[in-house]
Amino acid sequence: MKLKFKILALNVAALFIMLIILGPIIIQISDNYNLSNTLNYLKSQGEYSTIYIEQYILSKVGNIFEVPNIMDSDSPYLCSYLNKNIKCRVQIFYGNRLLGDSEDIIDNNRNIRPEVSETFKGNKAYYITKNKTRTLYFATPVNIDGRYNYSLALIYDLSDADKMKRNNMNMFIITGMLAAFFSVVFSNFISNKIISPIKTLTETANLFSKGDLHPKVEVNSTDEVGELGQTFNTMADSLRSMIHELKDEKEKQKNFFDNFTHEIRTPLTTILGYSELMWKTDSIEVKDKSLFHITSEGKRMLKMVERLLELSRLKRYDFEINKSETNLKTLLEEVCDSIHYKLGRYNISLDLILQDLYALVDPDLFKQVIINILDNSIKYSKTSKIDIVLKENNGIELVIKDYGIGIDPEILENIFEPYFKGDKSRNSSIEGWGLGLSIVKEIIDKHEAQIELISHIDEGTQVIIRL
Ligand SMILES: Nc1ncnc2c1ncn2[C@@H]1O[C@H](COP(=O)(O)OP(=O)(O)OP(=O)(O)O)[C@@H](O)[C@H]1O
Ligand SMILES: [Mg+2]
Repeated sequence: MKLKFKILALNVAALFIMLIILGPIIIQISDNYNLSNTLNYLKSQGEYSTIYIEQYILSKVGNIFEVPNIMDSDSPYLCSYLNKNIKCRVQIFYGNRLLGDSEDIIDNNRNIRPEVSETFKGNKAYYITKNKTRTLYFATPVNIDGRYNYSLALIYDLSDADKMKRNNMNMFIITGMLAAFFSVVFSNFISNKIISPIKTLTETANLFSKGDLHPKVEVNSTDEVGELGQTFNTMADSLRSMIHELKDEKEKQKNFFDNFTHEIRTPLTTILGYSELMWKTDSIEVKDKSLFHITSEGKRMLKMVERLLELSRLKRYDFEINKSETNLKTLLEEVCDSIHYKLGRYNISLDLILQDLYALVDPDLFKQVIINILDNSIKYSKTSKIDIVLKENNGIELVIKDYGIGIDPEILENIFEPYFKGDKSRNSSIEGWGLGLSIVKEIIDKHEAQIELISHIDEGTQVIIRL
């Protein structure tokens, strides 16, 4: 059963139970009140009437033995006189003999009525008929001079009380029906109010289960349903941010491993290049130099792998920089020396103007920066000459300049984005990953240094690093 119908059924049932129990109780209480008022009225009228009868009879008789005769003759008068005051049928009995009656109704029942019979034992008595229209029979003893016992009977028509009882009953039925109608309307309204946010919640939860994490539950109330909506929204927020974090973490991981694979390529090509050279040459000097570069690049690669393993163990997918006071001139010479073989293959000459300057940098990462920049000039620019200038100019300034094809100004602004590659039509023969300059930018940012790339088509490109 739906919640809405449960609320409705519960309300109507509660109302009916109340009406079924309360209705008869209230009707009975009000009827009892009416009857007891009538009875009290008859009792007090009975008392006055007996006094009146006694005094009337005593005032008429010469001696006390005439009482029965006077009672026989005057009872009809007394009954009609009293009827005018009491406004109900009045009868006077002597035993089962009717002496007077305010109404001319012939009663063939010769049996003495129970309430009348009770008065000859000295008691007042009453009873109520159980017909559809009820009648209250009340009788009180009339004792004249302590010698003669009569009975005064008052017969009260209870049709007004019956009418009132019926009216009350009808009123209860009409009120009950009206209350039931309003209860249906009201509980419908209330249940709609309760159920509509629950429906919204269910719809939103359904969207969630299908993977749409964006919708929010509109919470307008401060009750328990409102609280549930708020909790749902908070849960959704933390779920969203958790998923966001997870995606971020995954993205970071991917970038990290991509960058690593990218950087391991350079020492490998250097090692392979010098190994090849060793096969070809007979010169001891060239062989020595090649062995030196193979060993130093091998050591650099080992260091990189060790770093990777360590960071992967710590789940820190980020560059770690270990700065130390480094002689930049020596560092640049080492890098140029290691790519000497490659430069030879492309027929590119190097022009170095280097001041002897020291800076606080991570030497391995800084080597990677220079290798990446030089690698681009060698691969893309078709230059025959590269200049490297290291000098003091409001801090340390390093300029790497080629005289090649240059970079299209349109792509220049996105050049540091990861996986961004230049115009294929201009460098069709070379397949890069588009990661080199993004790694350079990340390392430079970690050093809180600046990098600038100035390029003109067919004039060349210069990269300026300021430390
Ligand atoms: N000196 C340069 N002369 C001409 N074009 C350049 C130069 N430097 C960079 N570019 C252009 O910028 C693009 C981005 O360079 P980046 O080093 O980021 O990636 P890549 O060299 O293509 O790939 P990767 O470095 O990962 O092997 C290159 O594809 C190239 O088109
Ligand atoms: Mg590159």
